[in-house]
Amino acid sequence: MFSSIWIRLLFLLFIVDATLADQAHLHQDLYPRPVTEEDWAVLNVSVDGRLIRGFPFSQPCFIDPNSSACKEVQQYYLNGNLRYNVPGSTTQTNWETCQTTGQRCLLNEDDPRDPDAIKDRNACEMGSISSYYIDVRNSADVVQPFKFSRKTKISLVIKNTGHDYIGRSTAPDSLGLWMHNMKSMTYIPEFVPVGCSKNDDFTVVTAIRMQAGVQWDEAYAFADQHNVTVVGGSDPKVGAVGGWLQGGGHGMLSNTLGLGVDRVLQFTVVTPNGTVHVANKYQAQDLFFALRGGGGGTFGVVLDATILASPPLTLQMTVIQWEGLHLDILSRFIKVLVNNAENMAHNGYGIVVSPNTGVFVTPTLSADQAEVIMAPIINFRHSLSIPNVTVHSQTFHGWLPFYSKIMQKDRVAIGINMVTSSRFIPRSSSTTKAREQLHSALVRMTETTEYIMILGTSPFTFHHDGTTSVTDAWRDTIWHVVTGRTWSYNATLEEKRTAYRLASTAVDHLRSITPPGAYQNEADVHEPGHEVTFWGIHHDRLLSIKEKYDPDRLLDCWHCVGWQKDSPRFRCYL
Ligand SMILES: Cc1cc2nc3c(=O)[nH]c(=O)nc-3n(C[C@H](O)[C@H](O)[C@H](O)COP(=O)(O)OP(=O)(O)OC[C@H]3O[C@@H](n4cnc5c(N)ncnc54)[C@H](O)[C@@H]3O)c2cc1C
Ligand SMILES: *[C@@H]1O[C@H](CO)[C@@H](O)[C@H](O)[C@H]1NC(C)=O
Ligand SMILES: *[C@@H]1O[C@H](CO)[C@@H](O)[C@H](O)[C@H]1NC(C)=O
Ligand SMILES: *[C@@H]1O[C@H](CO)[C@@H](O)[C@H](O)[C@H]1NC(C)=O
Ligand SMILES: *[C@@H]1O[C@H](CO)[C@@H](O)[C@H](O)[C@H]1NC(C)=O
Ligand SMILES: *[C@@H]1O[C@H](CO)[C@@H](O)[C@H](O)[C@H]1NC(C)=O
Ligand SMILES: *[C@@H]1O[C@H](CO)[C@@H](O)[C@H](O)[C@H]1NC(C)=O
Repeated sequence: MFSSIWIRLLFLLFIVDATLADQAHLHQDLYPRPVTEEDWAVLNVSVDGRLIRGFPFSQPCFIDPNSSACKEVQQYYLNGNLRYNVPGSTTQTNWETCQTTGQRCLLNEDDPRDPDAIKDRNACEMGSISSYYIDVRNSADVVQPFKFSRKTKISLVIKNTGHDYIGRSTAPDSLGLWMHNMKSMTYIPEFVPVGCSKNDDFTVVTAIRMQAGVQWDEAYAFADQHNVTVVGGSDPKVGAVGGWLQGGGHGMLSNTLGLGVDRVLQFTVVTPNGTVHVANKYQAQDLFFALRGGGGGTFGVVLDATILASPPLTLQMTVIQWEGLHLDILSRFIKVLVNNAENMAHNGYGIVVSPNTGVFVTPTLSADQAEVIMAPIINFRHSLSIPNVTVHSQTFHGWLPFYSKIMQKDRVAIGINMVTSSRFIPRSSSTTKAREQLHSALVRMTETTEYIMILGTSPFTFHHDGTTSVTDAWRDTIWHVVTGRTWSYNATLEEKRTAYRLASTAVDHLRSITPPGAYQNEADVHEPGHEVTFWGIHHDRLLSIKEKYDPDRLLDCWHCVGWQKDSPRFRCYL
């Protein structure tokens, strides 16, 4: 009796053992099997406990609308910086959702306190938010997830601020590498690139090294403390090292001081086989080229970047502003801008124009000289018969005072569903002969879209060294023109599709009169021929660098170099 029980028990144990052994064998060779809690726990230990479960930004309101966490989400839904402290959030909320299935966890953007949006408590779904994030602090935190993804086939995404307009920092059921908390900055009065020897021709420069999570408002304040100027973007919360820098990076000073990619001196980057490279002009040159315009999320995980710091500047600024949207006035304003585009660009102006505001700033003129160049803008004001038009000119000593007073105040909306579309306008379009055509294309665009932004932020007078991988079209660009469409949190599939279509067709007016060229970071999700439009002649070389460093495509993102368009990670794209 006893013995037979023992034999059965032993037999059972043997079976259990054999099954376990079998499974162990499967683990090694036949992934994917479902990844278990235990697998995640092991990964968690390998990154010193910095694995976080992903959740959507608005989840607290679905759990308890009366909680202080929900009140905070409601208060800062459309502004403020709270969003950036939560890995499961994006600036354009459609990238938090699964646009194809409608799975979402959103509040009503017209009224974040609207109880209707949260009345179905089960309606908070993960959408495209990563299932887990690693709060990355060092290179090991990146090497481990690369190994994990290679083994389990779990998609990786690199998530910094979540500003990306074509959804490259989220993916359903993925593991996110959250870069946000890598915040350190170092001022380097005499920077010498690693691997640069005495014989190399290199002029020692002043630089700032920034870790991957630094955002522009932090970088501007740091540069100001050290009495130097850095070139960054308009939104204070865009990342200074992530997608902005690796995809191009334009700003109000780019006309004279160059794009972000023109000013970066060195990257520290972990490639998918786990190697940490220091890439610059003297070593890992292929990676250095690729990271200077080839796009974020593609070649490796950048841990830090060292960028050029320039002496402080004196800026001459003019702002014109009126209330409300008047298409007739906008059309006349665009005519003034088209007629004066080249003159402004030659005089170092950076410009940002939205339907009722124009900001113009230059570091190369005196106040008297600026008044002459700005005369057409100042005179335009006198031709307007509507009330409440203001024109204001001012001299600023330093970038930060200008930025804090003017740019930071005028932030574009966040926390809404939105897609963009854009085009580069070449200098030939602003010649006397071509002006009429450009004006009428832009006016037709304003008639078919909700909004237009004309950005004079190209490196128009900057002398570049010809070694970046952004399309050469950037170098011939006078304006980068952006438009977009929005939709409500509970829009139907059809409404979303319409928004995409209208954003895209609005730019057709410009596509038909310009050569291929658009900025990958503010692009149409369905940009036609994106390889050429984003990278021009550089695409083939970028693709071979992608093959070399990421042959197994552990990194992948929408319209990125070497992307696998049939990958399930893109199933939420419309
Ligand atoms: C409100 C607003 C204002 C903007 N203003 C400007 C502007 O003035 N000038 C301008 O040039 N652009 C501007 N942009 C566009 C901006 O450049 C892009 O949104 C850019 O992708 C943001 O990069 P991020 O790292 O902050 O964002 P994320 O969405 O977190 O990342 C963007 C991409 O970079 C990758 N990435 C992030 N960090 C790393 C890293 N450490 N290593 C490797 N890959 C990484 C991500 O995987 C993703 O593919 C603006 C966007 C918004 C929404
Ligand atoms: C990872 O480990 C840390 C430390 O033990 C723990 O606090 C955290 O909750 C774990 N993360 C997950 C997702 O379980
Ligand atoms: C929230 O507070 C209101 C008013 O205090 C109360 O009526 C309601 O039941 C509370 N809801 C929950 C989910 O606790
Ligand atoms: C990783 O890839 C690089 C570039 O292809 C190669 O030089 C290096 O030897 C590889 N390292 C490992 C550990 O495989
Ligand atoms: C800032 O730098 C400029 C030139 O680089 C110099 O003239 C000026 O004295 C410096 N200001 C301070 C406060 O250090
Ligand atoms: C002009 O501005 C004033 C003060 O801000 C405001 O009260 C008034 O309504 C505005 N007029 C128009 C026509 O918008
Ligand atoms: C969308 O939300 C608004 C505001 O909550 C509501 O009035 C409207 O009925 C909703 N539409 C649909 C299709 O559910």
